[in-house]
Amino acid sequence: MKTAMKASYLLAGLGLIGLPFTGGAQDAKMNAFVTNLMAKMTMEEKIGQLNLVTPGGAVTGAVVSEGVEDKLRKGLVGGMFGITGPEKIRKAQELAVNQSRLHIPLLFGLDVIHGHKTVFPIPLGLSCSWDTALIGRSARTAAIEASADGLDWAYSPMVDIGRDPRWGRVSEGSGEDSWLGAAIARAMVKGYQGNDLTRNDVVMACVKHFALYGAAEGGRDYNTTDMSRIKMYEHYLPPYKAAVEAGVGSVMSSFNDVDGVPATANKWLMTDLLRKQWGFKGFVVTDYTAISEMMAHGLGDLKQVSASALNAGIDMDMVAEGFLGTLQQSLASGKVTKQQIETACRRVLEAKYKLGLFADPYRRLDVQRASQLILTDAHRAQARATAARSFVLLKNQGQVLPLQKKGTVALVGPLADNHRNMLGTWSVSGDFDKSITVRQGIENVAGNDVQILYARGANISDDTVFAKKVNVFGKEIEIDSRSADEMVKEAVETAKKADVVVAVLGEAADMSGESSSRTDINIPGNQRALLEALLATGKPVVLVLFNGRPLTLEWEHAHVPAILDAWFGGTEAGNAIADVLFGNYNPGGKVTASFPRNVGQIPVYYNHKNTGRPYNGEAESKFKSNYLDAPNDPLYPFGYGLSYTSFAYGDVQLSTTKATGNATVTASVTVTNTGKYAGEEVVQLYIADPVASIARPVKELRGFQKVLLQPGETKTVSFPVTTSLLKFYNTNLKYDWEPGEFIIQIGTNSRDVKSASISWDK
Ligand code: BGC
Repeated sequence: MKTAMKASYLLAGLGLIGLPFTGGAQDAKMNAFVTNLMAKMTMEEKIGQLNLVTPGGAVTGAVVSEGVEDKLRKGLVGGMFGITGPEKIRKAQELAVNQSRLHIPLLFGLDVIHGHKTVFPIPLGLSCSWDTALIGRSARTAAIEASADGLDWAYSPMVDIGRDPRWGRVSEGSGEDSWLGAAIARAMVKGYQGNDLTRNDVVMACVKHFALYGAAEGGRDYNTTDMSRIKMYEHYLPPYKAAVEAGVGSVMSSFNDVDGVPATANKWLMTDLLRKQWGFKGFVVTDYTAISEMMAHGLGDLKQVSASALNAGIDMDMVAEGFLGTLQQSLASGKVTKQQIETACRRVLEAKYKLGLFADPYRRLDVQRASQLILTDAHRAQARATAARSFVLLKNQGQVLPLQKKGTVALVGPLADNHRNMLGTWSVSGDFDKSITVRQGIENVAGNDVQILYARGANISDDTVFAKKVNVFGKEIEIDSRSADEMVKEAVETAKKADVVVAVLGEAADMSGESSSRTDINIPGNQRALLEALLATGKPVVLVLFNGRPLTLEWEHAHVPAILDAWFGGTEAGNAIADVLFGNYNPGGKVTASFPRNVGQIPVYYNHKNTGRPYNGEAESKFKSNYLDAPNDPLYPFGYGLSYTSFAYGDVQLSTTKATGNATVTASVTVTNTGKYAGEEVVQLYIADPVASIARPVKELRGFQKVLLQPGETKTVSFPVTTSLLKFYNTNLKYDWEPGEFIIQIGTNSRDVKSASISWDK
């Protein structure tokens, strides 16, 4: 209480305490407050606000290391990340508020990526639900838990478009499409931030990684990116822009270079595009040590790269301490200006103001709230329902699924009874011990008439060097003392006693995520041999996959009757998988990234261009754009996913086939559930623009709707089509449409569509 009063004295004189930040008149009050505060600050303190630190893990027991404590007292820290829990955070906040000269509160951030303590599916999995309301609610719950845990700021959403599944961070994004990616970005920003950032149950979002990080060459993390402006504007930038338009409070710069200049020093990106073109008003933080890493990029020493970052428009330095250590000197030598430092400082202080931290630095530090709001039954139930909606049924030959709730199930595989790998990458606050394994889930769901037999069958990988690299955060890959043959033999004996085999195979949680690129994206290790042996028993086999990226599954698709992609489903993964396996929930997810047949096809994505020599699949294909040894198309195209039921699409109906100017044309189809289960279908709208001033993609997603249909039910699904859906960036980067013919396509995935043509005049 006493400490809260100390911080709020600053506001008292201005009469600003307790007012939510709503813009307008509040803007003026915030400006007055920040101006007043900055007038009291030394240059050193202003630079201190630009410094984002971790607690300095070297000191056991303490909340922050001695070095950090000292800086907090001197007002040389603007924010911290890496500590959680209201008690610990309170200690750090008290240090800043009580012991620094101007009592400026800190901002506390963390990687809250797919849930906080209640972990939801990895973002790639979430995106496969195509349900933006559901995804938004997962961000809302993450915000409730994170703020109850003392945090103000979440380093999410990650909206990098990924067309290369070798890149491990495709797991953190929403796939290959910018239209869907933008819709998800908006939903997540709203979910985290709500409408009033001063509330104690919301956090400020941080869209990342700006920009183009997903286009790392060769899929190797942190690697160079290089692309045309048209490709950038059309395919990579829209989700960041959508987050800005949704009011995201902060942006994180990416590690890669853009047009030869690392994003963190790229003035075009950070100032011309982000602020001048898009009107972003929040603050920009770098990625972890992105400033000092620019020395290795070859941009100069720490002083130089720090000045370049500030000049570009960066406001906060994550961990590198380049700003703290060098900006004073750069100011003295004229490399940066006082105004630049003050602008950055103002933006950081504004963020704190908007979050209500000046009014009450302890507003998110209530131990009781933490005990009531974290990992509740309701959150777990939400995570379970969400996970089930993220799964994608890739194959279901002979309707092996859903399983009957009777008989004997052989549950096999290194991921079948494995807490450690349920949560997936970037679940820094999740407790894997509290996760539900597939075995537990089946025990919970299948009922008393199902007997469950279990055998591990294989290690995730048998390669000790590989395992060591993956296991940096703990033993995700455990290598059994038995030989591979012994393990397979045991699994086969188990399978022989069962009516059906459920093989839970795939990647370990940290085989995707940051710094987890792969050149071979098959199911790793001896797991294929295990699968072959299980299939050889003649028992029906269901493959449940854990994966943080599209895998190459040609062999599996050819041989295994049923495949369910469960990604990494989070805390309730096991229950959700069992719900789907036993038909309590009929899966309706659709992949948001194409699954290549082999690594040589990469990049393979649905919205490619036609080339001058398009290949139509004909046998005589010399001098056409194709491969000698593999088809062009992926194994599973963007938007693909099956259901336990089947859907029939009627023809595309257009309200008119000739439109002019600002007309709204309605494109509709009937969708009928022709099977025997109720099911959800993601109806997808694509538009092709066959003749334009530039070569255009063969089609682009321009709408989607998820509908629930009872057996035998028919619904008409309609999409309003206006010229806003026909626009693209031309060679002058003007976003406009050109009159002519357009092909309106509606279907169950990007490959299987019905089409109708329309001509649209200016
Ligand atoms: C990652 C970011 C993350 C940051 C802080 C970086 O290495 O690229 O996504 O937010 O660390 O943990």
